[in-house]
Amino acid sequence: MIHVTRRERFSAAHRLFREDWDDDKNLEVFDKCTYPNWHGHNYVLYVTVKGELNHETGFVVNIKRLSKIIKENIISKLDHRNLNMDVDFMKGKMASTENLVIGIWNELEPIINALGIQLHKIRIEETENNFVEYYGN
Ligand code: NI
Repeated sequence: MIHVTRRERFSAAHRLFREDWDDDKNLEVFDKCTYPNWHGHNYVLYVTVKGELNHETGFVVNIKRLSKIIKENIISKLDHRNLNMDVDFMKGKMASTENLVIGIWNELEPIINALGIQLHKIRIEETENNFVEYYGN
C-alpha cells in the first residue's frame, strides 16, 4: 500500500461562538476566535490517499485528477468563504478545524473510493503552530 498526499490551500473567515453562552464564557473558551466581526485564516489542506501501484502508469492515483477533485468538491466551497455561513457541509456545526477535517472527509471519501483507492488522512493546518488530522474514525 502506497500513500500519496496532495496539498491545497484556501483562505476563509470564521468565528467560534455559542449563542447559548454569554460573551465572557465565549471569550474564555474561544479566546480571539470569538471576536464578533469574524477573522480569517490561511488554511493548508493535505489529502492523503492510499492504494496499490498501477504498474502501467507507475501511479497510485493521477495527482492532477486528485487535485481537480479536491478543488471542485472542497476548495471551491471553502476558499474566500465564511465557514459559519457559506459552507453546506458545515451547517449547524462549530466552525472549528476539527469539524472541518470531518466534513471534508465525509465529502471526499465516496469520491476517492470510486477511483478504486482509499482515503487515508485529512490534515488541516490552521496556523503555523496548529494542525488537526483525521483518519476517518
Ligand atoms: Ni480562528
